[in-house]
Amino acid sequence: MSDPLYDDPEFLELYELFPRQQKGLAGAGEWPDLQALLPSVSNRSFLDLGCGFGWHTRWAAENGASRVLGLDASKKMLDRAIATTDNPAVEYRLTDLDNLDLEGETFDVVFSSLTLHYVADLDQLFTTTRAATAAGGSIVFNVEHPLMTGPTKLDAIDHHGTTVWPVDRYADEGPRTRTWLVEGVRKHHRTVASWVNGLIDAGYSIDRLVEWSPTSEQVAENPAWEIDRTRPPFLMVAAHV
Ligand SMILES: C[S@@+](CC[C@H](N)C(=O)[O-])C[C@H]1O[C@@H](n2cnc3c(N)ncnc32)[C@H](O)[C@@H]1O
Repeated sequence: MSDPLYDDPEFLELYELFPRQQKGLAGAGEWPDLQALLPSVSNRSFLDLGCGFGWHTRWAAENGASRVLGLDASKKMLDRAIATTDNPAVEYRLTDLDNLDLEGETFDVVFSSLTLHYVADLDQLFTTTRAATAAGGSIVFNVEHPLMTGPTKLDAIDHHGTTVWPVDRYADEGPRTRTWLVEGVRKHHRTVASWVNGLIDAGYSIDRLVEWSPTSEQVAENPAWEIDRTRPPFLMVAAHV
């Protein structure tokens, strides 16, 4: 089993060029705000859903996590994660999150970065993670914001001299096929309410939502992020059991 998108050499060659894949967490503008949602990982077990190259699994291990498990459907992503991780607390497993089985395993912190919008059956996933979240444990994740996953066209437009982000089909949840580095990339759109209520229905209690946009200072350093202050690129959620 393997993720055809992230195993596609043409896609991967372009994906590796992103600053966040070159510099790791230092190249991810939202990381300080996502990190602020996380509880301490020291002496706690940490599960990373869609770990990619393993930036967050290594961070958890370096910050004292007792056990770290990184799951990903792409063999090529995992090969690189394994090659760049030498901490014995970290384990990686080739896993499709649409068929996740965590039977008999528990984690204090369930985490995911920019992956869950690829999952088709979110209710099933949250039910599985909830059963595997230890008492007092947490789930923290970020996803592409529904204002990014919903619209048919991802294009800012000028409206009487103001830059606006057109939104359509917001209530029409389900798959969207995008051109993102390559053609035919499939993501799943859900409303903000569905992300939150999916957690509640699975038995989590919500702690905080962040509709992340860069600060004005970050935009000054990265002018291409200006549009991210018109609409947030990411939704972050923290919840506990
Ligand atoms: C945008 S990358 C994020 C990687 C990493 N979490 C990070 O923030 O650097 C999305 C990751 O999700 C993985 N992925 C996508 N669909 C998946 C699925 N159904 N099951 C497991 N992993 C999946 C991809 O292989 C890829 O590594």
